[in-house]
Amino acid sequence: NPILNQKDFLEMSQLTPEQLADLLDLAGELKARMQAGFSDLPLKGKILGMIFEKNSTRTRVSFETGMLQLGGSAIFLSGHDTQLGRGEPISDTAQVLSEYVDGLMIRTHEHSRAQAVAEYASVPVINGLTDFEHPCQALADLLTIKEIKGELSGLKLAYIGDGNNVANSLLVAGALAGMHVVCATPAGYEPNKEAIEAAQSASIGTGAKVEIVHDPYEAAKNADVLYCDVWTSMGQELENEKRLTDFADYQVNDKLTACAKEDYLFMHCLPAHRGEEVAASVIDSAHSVVIKQAGNRLHAQKALLVDLMSTPRQA
Ligand code: CP
Ligand code: NVA
Repeated sequence: NPILNQKDFLEMSQLTPEQLADLLDLAGELKARMQAGFSDLPLKGKILGMIFEKNSTRTRVSFETGMLQLGGSAIFLSGHDTQLGRGEPISDTAQVLSEYVDGLMIRTHEHSRAQAVAEYASVPVINGLTDFEHPCQALADLLTIKEIKGELSGLKLAYIGDGNNVANSLLVAGALAGMHVVCATPAGYEPNKEAIEAAQSASIGTGAKVEIVHDPYEAAKNADVLYCDVWTSMGQELENEKRLTDFADYQVNDKLTACAKEDYLFMHCLPAHRGEEVAASVIDSAHSVVIKQAGNRLHAQKALLVDLMSTPRQA
């Protein structure tokens, strides 16, 4: 039986707490089976089309290797090289690609563009990052915390910095998992209102606590996990200089980590800028789990691919 009841996976807020837990369990099982030497091929012969309108290292390689390991294959479609770069409508593109492939992944700017792909494609569509959400990242993040800490419920996760796509997804995911999620941002850089509301409504019934604050030290206090992302996301390059000033007090450094629990984990979705959002002494310390976290993108996404692509769905 499929875990997700929708054709597509675009937002963390579409999951119930049970669906999130089931996806993480499936990811853990797939990882354990692979590490034990089994090669299951549930997506034999299936093809994933991957549309990238922004750069990527992890997302591209983890989706492609995930498809290959599951018995299928993947096609990288750059926004520049396809007719999308010359203005072909996304609606035509989504319908045409659905004639060739069994699933689509899209990384793009406006979230509405990913929603349009989902609307016009007859095959499942996965959000590989939009300006609004990065839900595959949050799946991998929770998988990583669960592997190391054994559980999620009740842990305090402090996200420090820009209330961006990564923060939006993490806020909702943490709330679905019953965590205490605190997001500390400068004024004006809070997570998206819709994401905060989704996290708050997810917290009803899971025992989660969701807080948006401006003091990074308050957020980091007794945290089990300290998480940060870049201050300037893809597409915001022109704001870089202003952001360096606005976020100057939000670096995750030794002074800040001193407030966290002694066995805190440091997490970052990568790519990272040492000396900006995180000090080298933190990201390169024994507390940092960023490489394991990046590795878990593969396993979390394989669970998603198996769930969405191995059973036929109604559009
Ligand atoms: N974290 C993440 O999505 O990395 P890429 O931009 O390299 O895909
Ligand atoms: N917030 C970052 C994440 C990159 C993986 C961005 O959107 O550029």
